[in-house]
Amino acid sequence: MKEDKDSRWFELECVPKNYIFSKEERPQNLDSPVCDLIPVIDLAKPKAANGHSQPVEEIFKASQEFGFFQVINHGIPEKTVNDAMSVFKEFFDMQSKDVATGIVQHKKAYIYTSSTDYVKDGVHLWRENIKHPCHPLEECIHLWPDKPTRYQEVIAAYLVEIQKLSSRILEMICEGLGLKQGYFKDTSEVQLLSSNFYPPCPDPSLTLGILPHHDPSFITLLYQGGSTGLQVMKDGQWVNVGGIPNAFVVNIGNQLEIISNRKLKSVKHRVVTSTHETRLSIATFVNPSPDCIIEPAKILVSELEPSLYTASRYKEYVHSNKAFGDYTSAIQNALHSES
Ligand code: OGA
Ligand code: NI
Repeated sequence: MKEDKDSRWFELECVPKNYIFSKEERPQNLDSPVCDLIPVIDLAKPKAANGHSQPVEEIFKASQEFGFFQVINHGIPEKTVNDAMSVFKEFFDMQSKDVATGIVQHKKAYIYTSSTDYVKDGVHLWRENIKHPCHPLEECIHLWPDKPTRYQEVIAAYLVEIQKLSSRILEMICEGLGLKQGYFKDTSEVQLLSSNFYPPCPDPSLTLGILPHHDPSFITLLYQGGSTGLQVMKDGQWVNVGGIPNAFVVNIGNQLEIISNRKLKSVKHRVVTSTHETRLSIATFVNPSPDCIIEPAKILVSELEPSLYTASRYKEYVHSNKAFGDYTSAIQNALHSES
């Protein structure tokens, strides 16, 4: 690390040893082109003649095939999103300086920052992260950072929009699955926000921004500001998710895979680093309320398609898969042993 106390932890010519992953975990074929396989869905498309709106069908298909899609014309004002991104940028600018000098600024409940978060076998991720609860909004706001001074106001406004968009998307997923309207309405909550700052890295072939994982949510809404770095597992290969300005990346989490009896897929994803690009992302996790019992929806289970998962109360599920961010095994735990 440079002597200059204003320099940031990532301003280095080579990757420090404790950020280098083992050969098996390191990203390979980083030079492979961005393949824009992940569907981009225009939410403003009109209803099709058969009564189903086109986005409903596209969302259903993408959730089956990829577990991931992007939405455009989603109705969240650009200003709300840009304000949130600039607040996080400011937050991480302040934070990085503190991390460089070993000071963690925010010690309030539920707020985790610094590059020491999320390590595997002693190896650090190439990122900084903040996460905190968001539900119910009024009860959480005071737990959030108060610097930058606009943080609470701007992020609350962002979350109100995320709540609306996620309800709309869940409703479309409901329709696609043939579940009754409002199936998720009273049991889904935008519970957690997690923002990541991935600085440029001198050698992306050695590091990772986020380890491969599944999300524990119903759905996750991710804003990535048009940047790249997110990769999704498709048929045993890592596929890049294209950077589309103003789009939201949506993915199916473990809970929806369970409810849909695996009609929809919760798919493994990770973030790789870049030598030149800084990536800033805001992930919001729409989860079941804690007491909700998660099991395949009755109408999706039949003799021909038996239930693949055992029922579990969401809070118990979370408790038994405590290492946040490492939910890869969680979906396996919920599977019936014979499958
Ligand atoms: C997550 C996630 C991706 C990103 O937080 O679960 O996959 O780009 N984030 O930060
Ligand atoms: Ni994720």
